[in-house]
Amino acid sequence: MKFIIFNWKSYLNFDESNFLIKFISKTKFKNKYNLIVAPSSFSLGFLKNKYKNVNFSGQNFDFYGKGGFTSFIPISDLSENNINYALIGHSEVRQYRKENNSIVNLKLKLTLDTKITPIVCIGEDLNTYKKKLTTDYLKKQIIETFDKNTQYKEVFIAYEPLWAIGSGLVPTNDEISKIADFIKFFLKDYSFKKLKILYGGSVNSENLEQLSKIKELDGFLVGSASIKKSFINKFKL
Ligand code: PGA
Repeated sequence: MKFIIFNWKSYLNFDESNFLIKFISKTKFKNKYNLIVAPSSFSLGFLKNKYKNVNFSGQNFDFYGKGGFTSFIPISDLSENNINYALIGHSEVRQYRKENNSIVNLKLKLTLDTKITPIVCIGEDLNTYKKKLTTDYLKKQIIETFDKNTQYKEVFIAYEPLWAIGSGLVPTNDEISKIADFIKFFLKDYSFKKLKILYGGSVNSENLEQLSKIKELDGFLVGSASIKKSFINKFKL
C-alpha cells in the first residue's frame, strides 16, 4: 500500500477545493494507493463533513489547546472531527511560522492522545546537501524531534529536501533510498508501533513512475502537482 498525501497548501480557494474533492470522491482509485488530502484549514472541516469517503489530513495544528489563542488551530479541531492525519513541521511552517524541532517534538506528543497519525516533515537545505552533510542534519532533526523513552503509535516521516520543494529538482532514486534506509536505521532504538517513510519535493506526473521504483518508500507527499486532475488520474483504477 502506497500512501499519497496531497498537500494543497494555500493553492485553492474554498470553491476550487470543493470542486476537486467532489471529483476525488467520485473517482475509483487503485487499491494499492491510499489517497489522503490535506486542504487548507479553512476548507477542511466543511469538506470532511461533506465527503465521507475521502481521507483527510490537517496541514497543521498548534500546541496550545482550546482557549484564548486567536488564530491558532487546536489539535481537537482535527481529532473531534475524525481527521486521522496531520502534517507536522512542514518546511514552510518552519520557515514562515518559525516552527522549530522542539515545537515539532511537543506537537508530536499531543498526537499520542488522539487517533491522528502524524506526518513529520524533515529535510535539509541546498547548502547542507551540497556539503554532503545531509545525514548529519537529519540526525539532529530526528534527535530533537523524537524521544527514545516515548512509545509512539503510527508515525509517517516525510523526507522533503528543502531544495526539492517546488523547484522541479529531485534527488536520485539511489539518494532517496539511502536516506530512507538511514532514517529507519537511525530510529531502530526508538519505539514506534508503525513507522512509514514518504518522500516529498517536486513529485509530479513525469517522475512518479521513476520514483515509485524506490522500494524503501511507503509513499509520497505531493504539493503543486496534487491540485492537477492529470496527476490525480495517475492513481485511478
Ligand atoms: P511540491 O511540494 O510537491 O510542490 O514540491 C511538496 C511539499 O511541500 O510537501
